[in-house]
Amino acid sequence: MPVLVENDAAWASALTAGLPAGTQVVAGIAQLDNWLANQPAEYAVVLGPNTELDDAVALAERLVTAHPTTGIVLLRHELTSLVFQAAMRVGIPAVIAADDIDGMGAAVERARQVFEAVRGPVPEAAERDGKVITVFSPKGGVGKTTVAVNLAVALSGSGAARVCVVDLDLAFGDVAITLQLIPEHTIVEAVEAEEHLDFSLLETLLTRHENCSILAAPTHPEAKERISPALVSKVLRILRQHFDYVVVDTSPAFDDQVLHAFDESDDCILVATLDVPTVKNVKVALETLDKLNLAEGRRHLLLNRADDEVGLSPANVEQLLKMPVSTALPSSFAVANATNHGRPIVLSRPDHPVSKALIKLAHDLSSTGINGSAVQRGGAQPIDSDKRRVFGRRKK
Ligand SMILES: Nc1ncnc2c1ncn2[C@@H]1O[C@H](COP(=O)(O)OP(=O)(O)OP(=O)(O)O)[C@@H](O)[C@H]1O
Ligand SMILES: [Mg+2]
Repeated sequence: MPVLVENDAAWASALTAGLPAGTQVVAGIAQLDNWLANQPAEYAVVLGPNTELDDAVALAERLVTAHPTTGIVLLRHELTSLVFQAAMRVGIPAVIAADDIDGMGAAVERARQVFEAVRGPVPEAAERDGKVITVFSPKGGVGKTTVAVNLAVALSGSGAARVCVVDLDLAFGDVAITLQLIPEHTIVEAVEAEEHLDFSLLETLLTRHENCSILAAPTHPEAKERISPALVSKVLRILRQHFDYVVVDTSPAFDDQVLHAFDESDDCILVATLDVPTVKNVKVALETLDKLNLAEGRRHLLLNRADDEVGLSPANVEQLLKMPVSTALPSSFAVANATNHGRPIVLSRPDHPVSKALIKLAHDLSSTGINGSAVQRGGAQPIDSDKRRVFGRRKK
């Protein structure tokens, strides 16, 4: 599938509408390099109109030897003689006006034909079996959205992996606003199409953010009731076939939609803070998950604001919850500051201790798992077949 380089979310959404389903979107040339390193059979790079001309020229000079069968389609806000001369000099075959969506599609198709003439058929996009990672806490305001968004950004590995964030805080979701995005579409538009929902339709509902895609929550709380738990399962199953990671942000409640997300999840990040009511509620949540045989495989305890001096220590929390803290995030003004500026701390300050801890969590989740931190609560118990019928973990 082609890859589009575009750092403007609105342009990225408009352009992907004219590109084949499953097109990867990356924010810049560095991320493109990460993508191409993993995609030797990439047939087209579409450079969005906000790519610097110098960057396009430098890329073309590199690709001609490193990826000679990858065609470049250069989009420009203005088609000037300077642009054409530069493109001709480095052999960029297609220079298209930014708003000529059909012309862009045709140029990408030509790139595919050239690739196939030299190297044979483009391999079918392999169906992925991406990981679904649900971030949950029974308490509000503890940092679920902060963790979900930053984890997603970290998992994307600067464009090397395809990541989608699903906002299942269906009444008061704020993933989009946290990223300063104004989504044109939300999950509620999948309701009408539930019967025949597929990726090509779902993809049109996604909002782009640099290297991630977002399936936004409805804009009005009452729309939550229209989103059935079955639709949630369907959406997650479709997305996992097309993304390497699907990160689910949740409401602070065990509603049916969230329970179905657990049912589809490979990993669950439970967020706690150092206060007794939160720890008590996380304990109850763990017991409930046990009873329902949900998320029994890998649960990871994330302690947010773990350095707050409030009379309860991380060791106390581990003792009370009978599971180790796998990730501890300190309290920092920089986190709230990043949220208020709409730029996740992992992007704005990758060297910050909070970012480092979340990047490590992403790394651990993307390899085999977190050593020693996966607690098999209830997993060893015989499975109640009746419960299984309702909440049977998806078999791989
Ligand atoms: N480690 C931290 N240090 C400082 N501020 C933090 C930290 N983690 C989260 N915050 C801030 O706390 C606020 C609440 O975080 P967030 O929205 O992620 O919580 P939430 O659990 O998703 O809340 P809700 O239940 O309302 O959805 C945000 O302003 C965020 O920036
Ligand atoms: Mg939230």
